[in-house]
Amino acid sequence: MACHMFLLLLCISLLYLPIYSSAKSDRLNDKPIIGVLAQEVYSPKPNQTAYIAASYVKFLESAGARVVPVMINRTLEEYKKLFNSINGSVILYPGGGVSIVSSGYEKAAKIFYELAIEANNRGDYFPVWGTCLGFEQLTYLTSGKAVLSYTNTSGVALPLSFTNEAKDSRMFKGFPAQLIKALASEPLTENSHKWSLGTYNTNEELRKFYKVLSTNTDGNVEFVSTVEAHEYPIYGTQWHPEKNAFEWRQPYIPHSPSAIKTTFYMAEFFVSEARKNFHKFESEEEESRALIYNYNPVYTGTKSSFEQIYFF
Ligand SMILES: *[C@@H]1O[C@H](CO)[C@@H](O)[C@H](O)[C@H]1NC(C)=O
Ligand SMILES: *[C@@H]1O[C@H](CO)[C@@H](O)[C@H](O)[C@H]1NC(C)=O
Ligand SMILES: *[C@@H]1O[C@H](CO)[C@@H](O)[C@H](O)[C@H]1NC(C)=O
Ligand SMILES: *[C@@H]1O[C@H](CO)[C@@H](O)[C@H](O)[C@H]1NC(C)=O
Repeated sequence: MACHMFLLLLCISLLYLPIYSSAKSDRLNDKPIIGVLAQEVYSPKPNQTAYIAASYVKFLESAGARVVPVMINRTLEEYKKLFNSINGSVILYPGGGVSIVSSGYEKAAKIFYELAIEANNRGDYFPVWGTCLGFEQLTYLTSGKAVLSYTNTSGVALPLSFTNEAKDSRMFKGFPAQLIKALASEPLTENSHKWSLGTYNTNEELRKFYKVLSTNTDGNVEFVSTVEAHEYPIYGTQWHPEKNAFEWRQPYIPHSPSAIKTTFYMAEFFVSEARKNFHKFESEEEESRALIYNYNPVYTGTKSSFEQIYFF
C-alpha cells in the first residue's frame, strides 16, 4: 500500500548541497562541478531509459557551475568514484514521478546521501540539495519512514510563509530584503506535488535534523516548503526554484522579475555552497567525459511539461 502511494508521486525532487564553513571557507573552488541525479523515464525506449530535465542544468549553469549527470543503476564503486570526483559537489535530485522507496533513483540517492553524511562528519563539506521529489526523498532518507500526506498542490504558485528561523538561515540570509518581501507576499514558488511533509509531523529525526524555513498550505493542510539541515549542508524545497526562469509550459509558473530573481538567488546559493567542496576528477580527460556537454537536450515542450530533456 505504501509503495503504491509512492509510485503515484507526481513530482518531487531533491538536491544535495552542503554547509560547513569557518577555517576552510576562505579557500573557494571557482570551478564547481555539480552532480545531478537522473531518474527512470515512465515509458522507456531504446536509448531513453533515464532522464534529467534541462531546466535543472540551466539553473546550476546560470550561477557558474558545470553539471555531471549521475546515472541510475550503477555500482556502489562507480558512485563512490563519482562522489570523490565531483568538484564543488552538489547533488540535485530533480523533481519527478518515480518511487522514493524502490527506484534506481532512490538507490543512487541513498548512496549519495550516506556518502555526504560521512564526508561532512569528517569535515569534507559536501552539499546536498533536494527539489520536490528530491525533498520528499530527503525526508525518507533522514527518517527512514514514509511520512508524507496528500495535499492539493499539483500545479499552483504560492507565496512562502517564512518561519522565524528563515531570517538567520544560510539559505536566505544573502537575499535582498525586497526579494524576501516579494517571496512572502507574491506567488513566486511553483508547486507540482501531491505529497507533502505536514507541519504537524512529529517525526523526531526530522525535527532534530532540519530547520523549517517556510511553510505553505493547500487551503486545508499545512505543509513544510523549505528546509535546511541544522548541522549539515543539506537543503530541500518542496517547490521548484528552477522553473521560473526556464520552464514555460504551464500557466501557473511565474515569470515576473521577482520570480526570475528567485531562480537566480537560489542557484547562486547552491553553487556558492558547492564552491566549498574540493573533490576533483583524477584527470581532465575523465572530467570532460563525465560532463553533461557530452549529451544533447531534446526539445520536448510540445509533448511534455519540460521544454528540454536530457535522455540517457
Ligand atoms: C542508440 O544509441 C546508439 C549509440 O549512440 C546508436 O548507435 C543507436 O542507433 C541508437 N538507437 C536508437 C534506437 O536510437
Ligand atoms: C534499472 O534497473 C532496473 C532493474 O534492476 C530495470 O528495470 C531498469 O530498466 C533499469 N533502468 C535503467 C535506466 O537502466
Ligand atoms: C484544489 O485546489 C484548486 C486551486 O489550486 C481548487 O481550484 C480546487 O477546488 C481544489 N480541489 C479540492 C478538491 O480541494
Ligand atoms: C577542481 O577541479 C578542477 C578540474 O578538475 C581543478 O583544476 C581544480 O584544482 C579543482 N579545485 C580544487 C579546489 O581542488
